[in-house]
This record gives sequence, structure tokens and C-alpha cells, in this order.
Amino acid sequence: MERDPRCPLPPVSQLLRQQGQEHLVEHLATLEPAARTRLEARLRCIDWEELSRPATPPSLEQLEPPRVITLAERLGRGAAWSRLGEEAYRRGQVAVLLVAGGQGTRLGRREPKGCFPIMPHSGKSLYQLQAEKVVSLSRRLGHPVPLLLMTSPATDEPTRAFFAAARGFGLTPDQLRIFCQGTVPSTDAAGRLLLAGPGELLENPDGHGGCFTALVASGNLSRLRQEGIRYLVYIQVDNVLAPVDDPLLVGLCAAEGAEVITKVLPKAHPDERVGHLLRVGGRDHIVEYTELSSEDVRRRGPDGELIYRWGSPALHCFSTAFLARLAEAGFRLPLHRSRKPLQAYVDGQVRQVVGYKSERFIFDLLPQAQVSLGLEVRREEEFAPVKNAVGDDSPDTAVRLASALYARWLEAVGVRVALPPGALIELSPLLAATESQLRQRWDGRVREITAGCLLE
Ligand code: UD1
Repeated sequence: MERDPRCPLPPVSQLLRQQGQEHLVEHLATLEPAARTRLEARLRCIDWEELSRPATPPSLEQLEPPRVITLAERLGRGAAWSRLGEEAYRRGQVAVLLVAGGQGTRLGRREPKGCFPIMPHSGKSLYQLQAEKVVSLSRRLGHPVPLLLMTSPATDEPTRAFFAAARGFGLTPDQLRIFCQGTVPSTDAAGRLLLAGPGELLENPDGHGGCFTALVASGNLSRLRQEGIRYLVYIQVDNVLAPVDDPLLVGLCAAEGAEVITKVLPKAHPDERVGHLLRVGGRDHIVEYTELSSEDVRRRGPDGELIYRWGSPALHCFSTAFLARLAEAGFRLPLHRSRKPLQAYVDGQVRQVVGYKSERFIFDLLPQAQVSLGLEVRREEEFAPVKNAVGDDSPDTAVRLASALYARWLEAVGVRVALPPGALIELSPLLAATESQLRQRWDGRVREITAGCLLE
């Protein structure tokens, strides 16, 4: 409901007392007027209702198998979907959404994760790699494909500076659309807001699901719709192999009139730390590994298959009409709360406390979709995430997976590849970002690769 401007707002202190936040009333009284006004303005914008009602996982009692287009099914119908998707790309109906609000904390860095130099020979960053995939796709199509890049308050300025210094890595200013996600205050166990310092709430980016709200609030969704963009290919910055030139994905979305397609892969092992695609009460859901016990993930259905079989590599296609429909209905993604050690300002000093961080997850859009489908993909072709500094899902595993994929593409165009152990191939996305691009552009420059190399 719109506020009547003639009615004065109730004092913030009243609001805070109603919400059980008396400690902030006391804190406000210690601040200089300017700092107090700033903090009061922020406090007035908080949605107390959603903060006090975190999302709950769906009841797992009415589980049905999700509808997943398997690799076998793709063999039969894939060519028709690819033709349809290619038409959508050619008509300029596809844009790419890249979420990059995270910092490389688990990689031991404080800069945006996208700035991490990942590629073994060129030293290209995750940002450059993802941006060049879009440049390569745009060249193939002969028109610029918009790249919507979501940052967070911590990564926004450094991301803009990084792209500006590199002239957008070949993306035009009109094509690269950087927008910033919102934040959510962190709380203590009793739901009281924490402070980061005097006059400043302790907040965190509102999760990758923040891209839905931010796409709408920044005007980017309306702009895409005006431009005739019907499909958004969603990728995360930390997946080296995430494809953006994917006619089959877009064509499936078009052919089935789907609002969401979620790529899935059979999990590597039951304990793999991924979300799971499930169907509950006739709607698709993704349930996180954190929400399941180790017995749950080992449960098998009557067919003998693992119930939590389909892992999510966080790759989707969304119809923009779907997003607009939800935005018009005022839909908000719920907050998921997780317990974390946090650095908070308590009793005049910053110290570690156990608190709660809340985030929105993009996949909570799935249950809202009238038509939602899973699409099985090959892990070795599409999923090489960079999450940890060493071990599983690290830069080392990601570049090895990428090199193995490039080797297979090269073999498919007739190159003999015999790499010594540890040697890596790097293929610039500007030469080819997919096997099909390589087939079109390969100039036969080498017949044999027997050592690590960069092909540009
Ligand atoms: C995520 C998914 C999981 C999926 C896995 C695949 C969640 C909760 N889980 O796990 O289902 O199987 O990826 O790799 O997401 N980001 C933002 N803003 C934020 C938070 C994150 O833009 O506020 C971006 C990050 O920059 C990154 C991506 O979202 O690109 C993933 O975030 P991350 O926290 O690493 O997710 P995971 O827990 O690894």
C-alpha cells in the first residue's frame, strides 16, 4: 500500500521496539545527527516480515520424479530443439545473465571472484573468460548479445574498474550491463540486527536470487523485454565451462513453452555438495545439500535410483515473460537463513560472533513456474566450478577439466592430442567457445599437440 504523504511516519524508535530491536534505539541515541539519519533511513526500508520468516524446505513427503530430458532423449529430439534455439539467437531474443556478487573468500582473496586469474597460459580472469564467450557468440551471430552482470556492493566498484581498464574485454558499452544486487542485514540468534560499526548495520549481499529483484529494480528487465529478449541464459561466474552459446537449451525452452529450464547432472557421489532437482506436489524445487541429511541423500526410490539423483550445476534458462509476470505480481524470493561466524561490532569493538546470514536463491523461482523442466547435461562439458583454493572444485581441477574438453574438441576437428601428464591446453573463447564454433573456425594451424599450449 502506498503511504499517504500527509501522514507523518511513526518514529523509528517505535518501529524498532515493535520489532524487538530495542538495542538499536539505544545505539541511535549515541550517534551524530547525520549518522543517525542515515541509519534511520536504512532501518525504515527493512522488510521485517520476510526477515522473521525464513524459507523452509518443501515437505519431502509427496516426492515425484522431476521431468528431466535425459541424454538419451536429447539424441532423438535435440536437433529440432537446436534449430529452434538457433532461430531465437539469430532473431536477437537471447541475453546472458552472469551472477558475480561473490568475493573469492574461499579462494583466499578479497577481490571479486570474477577477477581471479584462472587460465593456465594467458592468466585470463574468470570475468574475461565469461565475457569473451559472449563476444564470441556475438561475432558468430553478427549482433551484440546483451550480458547482464550482477555485482554486489562489495564487488560493484572493483568490477566496473576491472572491465573499464580492459575496455569491456571486447563487449560494447551498450552490451555490458552491470547492475548491483541488494543486501540483507545479519542477525544474532534472537533475530536482533547486528552492527558492522557505529551507525552501520552488518549486512551481506542478498544471494544470487537477488538478481531477480535487482533486474527489475534496475530497469534491466523492462529494457530486455522492450528489446524483444525472450530468453535469459543464467550462469555463475565461477563455472569455467558454463556455456552461453546453447541453442538446444533455448530451443527446448521455446518448444515446451517452459518458464524455466534447469540443467542437471547425475551426482558424482551421494555427498556431492550441490542442490538437487526434485518435484514436490506437482512443482519443481531445488533442495540444497545443506538441507538434507546423509541418510536422505542415500535414499533410493522404488526403481532403485537415488531419489536425490539430479544435481544442479546452477545453469538455467528463464523466460523473460515469466520473470515479468512474477515482478508484476509483486513476487519476492524468500530468504534462507544460515548460521555463520560473523565479525560484528558489539560493546564498542569488532569481534567474532555466531550470527545468521540471510540470502535469496535464484532456484526458488522454480516452484513458481507453470512449466519447468530439467535438462541432463554432461558434467565434463559444462561444469568446472572454482570454489576452493585447493582440492575438489579448485582452480586446478577446473583448468584440467577445461583442458580435457578442449582436447576433445580439437580431436573432433582432426588434431592428434598426446599431452604429457600435467600439461594443459587453453583455448581462447575468441577462437572457439563451443565445439561447434571450433568446427566453423578451425584453420588447421596444427595437426598435433604434444605439449601444453594456448590457442588463440
Ligand atoms: C551453488 C548452489 C548449488 C549448486 C552449486 C553449483 C546455492 C545456495 N547453491 O552452491 O545449488 O549446485 O552452486 O556450483 O547457490 N553470488 C552472487 N551473490 C550472492 C551470493 C552468490 O552473485 O549474494 C554468486 C557467486 O558470485 C557465484 C554464485 O552465486 O557466482 C554461487 O555462489 P556460491 O555461494 O559459491 O554457491 P555454492 O554454495 O557453491
